[in-house]
Amino acid sequence: MSNLNLEIIKEKALNDHVPIIMDNTLNKIKDYMKNRKINKILEIGTAVGYSAICFTEFLEKNGVIDTIERNEEMIKQAKENIKIVSKDYTINIHEGDAVDILPNLDDKYDMIFIDAAKTKYPFFLEQALRLLNENGVIFADNILYKGYVLSDYNKHKQRTAVNHLREYIKLVTENPNLETEILDVGDGLAVTKKR
Ligand SMILES: C[S@@+](CC[C@H](N)C(=O)[O-])C[C@H]1O[C@@H](n2cnc3c(N)ncnc32)[C@H](O)[C@@H]1O
Repeated sequence: MSNLNLEIIKEKALNDHVPIIMDNTLNKIKDYMKNRKINKILEIGTAVGYSAICFTEFLEKNGVIDTIERNEEMIKQAKENIKIVSKDYTINIHEGDAVDILPNLDDKYDMIFIDAAKTKYPFFLEQALRLLNENGVIFADNILYKGYVLSDYNKHKQRTAVNHLREYIKLVTENPNLETEILDVGDGLAVTKKR
């Protein structure tokens, strides 16, 4: 895969204000992947395919990424981008709302990346835990949401999203079967594994 193509995809996404993964968040995930055999990834929130394409760098040979997106314009661009970097046999886009699609999946994944509607994070977690391999990991991006989540400021118009992100953190930190780290990278990254 040419780095030039990836840079062009990234620049266009940033110019179009598509909220793609931040560099330091991506580097954390890549560091995790480098030391492990990752064969199957599930991503919730494809946008233009940037993060999924980046993840292919450390995916095992013949590995697969299933990624879910509901916005038609994003799907169109993601398909074009995935073709440009010749990853059409590696990245499968599931078109539609993750709330409808997730309950119909029954594969097991080594890594799950949650990066879609914040108000649905608790539901995404429930589904991710069902779909996660025993030694797998769940990354949830934007978990600190510009600092709102851990502050006591709750009058912001994004209050519903903040409440759901707080609920996500409570679920992953209070469940004795889970081990979670909240990393202050990018917009906050929750890293959850099964004990
Ligand atoms: C933050 S962007 C994803 C960025 C992408 N992961 C990256 O880093 O390149 C979130 C995407 O999730 C999609 N999305 C939000 N809620 C969704 C849902 N319930 N089902 C499917 N897609 C959803 C949005 O349309 C948007 O394109």
